[in-house]
Amino acid sequence: MTSHTADATGSRQAESHTMQAVTRSRYGGAEVLEVREVDRPTPEEGQVLIEVRAASLNALDWHLLTGTPYFLRLINGLRAPKRTGIGVDFAGIVEAVGSDVEGVRPGDAVYGAGNGTCAEYVVAKAEYVLPMPDGVGFEQAATFNVAAITALQGLRDVGDLKVGQRVLINGAAGGVGTYAVQIAKTLGAHVTAVCSGRNVDMVEALGADEVIDYTRTDVSSLGLRFDVIFDNAGSQRPSKLSRMLEAGGIAVIITGPKKGKVIGPVSHIVRSKLRFMFGSKRGEAMNAETRREDLEQIGRWVADGSITPVIHRTYSLDETVEAVRLLGSGHSPAKLVIKP
Ligand SMILES: NC(=O)c1ccc[n+]([C@@H]2O[C@H](COP(=O)([O-])OP(=O)(O)OC[C@H]3O[C@@H](n4cnc5c(N)ncnc54)[C@H](OP(=O)(O)O)[C@@H]3O)[C@@H](O)[C@H]2O)c1
Repeated sequence: MTSHTADATGSRQAESHTMQAVTRSRYGGAEVLEVREVDRPTPEEGQVLIEVRAASLNALDWHLLTGTPYFLRLINGLRAPKRTGIGVDFAGIVEAVGSDVEGVRPGDAVYGAGNGTCAEYVVAKAEYVLPMPDGVGFEQAATFNVAAITALQGLRDVGDLKVGQRVLINGAAGGVGTYAVQIAKTLGAHVTAVCSGRNVDMVEALGADEVIDYTRTDVSSLGLRFDVIFDNAGSQRPSKLSRMLEAGGIAVIITGPKKGKVIGPVSHIVRSKLRFMFGSKRGEAMNAETRREDLEQIGRWVADGSITPVIHRTYSLDETVEAVRLLGSGHSPAKLVIKP
């Protein structure tokens, strides 16, 4: 059994009121990021201060960083981003708790969801701070929030994936995709996965029953039929998604084509809705949300070996710019972990 408590020497400058954090003050690419000394946050009522041992990047961070699609700026800040930090998932050690927090204490190893997690410390709502499952490492647990949650909610809740059904994971090699392949297998489905040639071996090793290299073969040309399509790449038109579905099948639309800086995937979602308006096949767009019980489910599956987080590389805080550049390429494999 792994013991998850911080030792006295493992803690960073407990008396300091500042910390190192990845920050930005304007929208832009990786070049707007800098590692700076900033004030360390203080936990308020219902919040927990965590010493971050690992965080991970998601495509979401790229959208928040660049402020694209532009309509997101209505929420995140019109001229400049309201939030200066990046990263929304973490694993670490509880440093302090605010009032009205039960269930976690200083020294506990935890994982969960917060804002600005690519930093030495982060505050998070206690609801999204969970005790680390036995045997799970910080780097692994730092990948659960967005990527694994999206795969779980998309396949189980929106796709209603059942044992023995056939599922297509379009976009199987990234953060969400590597989780989706494994979760679909854990739910008992037959998995056909699509990725580029350089990632075929990795996706096969995750348990996919068939892997198709999209740079050589268009899966929609093969005459295959699926009960569920988890479209995590946005590379197939709604008419082709429909053609690949069995009667009664569901296309789970996670994203759209990577063009259109103003409204992003919205036009793809609208066209999909229109395409699936009549008949027994369905096209459902989804927006994943952080839920404590889903974070727990992922933690249980990783602890019992049902699924294994795939980490492409671990970067230091100073190397975050390099990691974000890879993320922005749209071909970042598996998960990229940042270790402050
Ligand atoms: N709706 C939601 O709630 C929600 C939640 C999370 C993420 N998302 C979206 O889901 C997508 C994936 O997110 P992520 O964090 O997993 O991103 P990621 O880690 O950056 O992964 C992107 C992956 O897409 C693959 N890819 C690129 N073009 C492809 C194509 N034409 N066909 C198949 N695969 C292709 C790449 O693999 P190759 O190198 O093999 O091409 C890459 O590994 C993003 O668009 C993100 O915005 C939506």
